[in-house]
Amino acid sequence: MGGSESAAFSLQDVRNWNAALKEKRPKMVALFVGGTSGIGEHAAKRLASAIKLPTIYIIGRSQTARNAVIEDLDRINANGSYMFKHCDISDLGSVDTLCKEIAAQEAAVDLLFLTAGALGFGKQDTKAGIDLNHMLRYYSRMRFVHNLIPLLENSEDARVVSVFGAGKEGPIEEDNLDLKKKFSFSASNSYPATMTSVLFEVLAAKHPTISFIHEFPGFVATPLLKHALGSVTGSIMSLFMKPMMMTGSESGEWSVFLSTSSSFPSKGRSASKENFSRKESRIARSSTGRVGDGVYLLNYNGKDVTKQSLMEQLRVAGFPLIVEKHTLETYRVILS
Ligand SMILES: NC(=O)c1ccc[n+]([C@@H]2O[C@H](COP(=O)([O-])OP(=O)(O)OC[C@H]3O[C@@H](n4cnc5c(N)ncnc54)[C@H](OP(=O)(O)O)[C@@H]3O)[C@@H](O)[C@H]2O)c1
Repeated sequence: MGGSESAAFSLQDVRNWNAALKEKRPKMVALFVGGTSGIGEHAAKRLASAIKLPTIYIIGRSQTARNAVIEDLDRINANGSYMFKHCDISDLGSVDTLCKEIAAQEAAVDLLFLTAGALGFGKQDTKAGIDLNHMLRYYSRMRFVHNLIPLLENSEDARVVSVFGAGKEGPIEEDNLDLKKKFSFSASNSYPATMTSVLFEVLAAKHPTISFIHEFPGFVATPLLKHALGSVTGSIMSLFMKPMMMTGSESGEWSVFLSTSSSFPSKGRSASKENFSRKESRIARSSTGRVGDGVYLLNYNGKDVTKQSLMEQLRVAGFPLIVEKHTLETYRVILS
């Protein structure tokens, strides 16, 4: 299999890849922001079983989930190191403190896997005055990326995966990026999706040793609905939707594949012929339209879901710089 490829992978391709990971990547340091539940938890568990010597950080708030997840990880692979870090990531100051702690413990981070979030139906302001979902889906996640760039750059094969809404991007307005001027349910989904995809293009160009993936995870059976609607209604809804949902363990397979596959290389890795065998994998087309350009907007199964004309319109209108400046300025204001 050579050359560019934007088609989906099969579950068998993915299982084969993951089964061979023990030889390809014997060690990895991975952070799961949102690893106490759902997609993040399943990804962490599958990675623990796929790697000989994993170092895994689980980040979240739930103490009960923390105990269960860490115990499970220990059972899955007793040779790994597993740490829970308590953090309410809607507070950017806590994100900064946690990132400093991690920088004191690790020289490099190979994978930053971002899933923290909730299903919010209405506006709920954080202390910073930004809607909670917008904060969790965009600002907090990007703060982890921003803070951990040096550690990611120390990795030989670094990747950031944000699991949210690739392919769900839409038009955005420069004076409403924080959704303070005008808020709607649909904007609370499309704005963080669009801003993530735009910022990842900027970051992939600036940091060519890191691969950036924004993913739509499909519909996965997780406690997301229970967390949003309460135990009774959430369980009824989950039961009703079960036939349409993939299992957590299948989601874990896809997540580990997207987090490690050589089909989604960083820009630098893709250009460096001696480091990377193109024959080994089919290299995906980036959202920029170029093959292996370090930024990928993907469905859970690796299918490119880039809205080419929208992304081009956003580039032409200057949104890469606008979104980057807005994000840094928002951090400055919130953290000052
Ligand atoms: N499941 C799906 O079918 C689906 C489909 C499309 C998109 N998504 C998106 O994928 C992401 C993950 O979904 P999921 O199904 O895995 O949800 P989930 O099972 O409810 O897990 C959400 C995770 O986010 C963490 N989290 C929430 N608020 C947090 C906060 N303030 N600080 C720190 N951690 C926080 C939770 O940890 P604690 O409770 O321990 O803090 C938990 O680990 C969400 O953004 C969701 O919108 C999911």
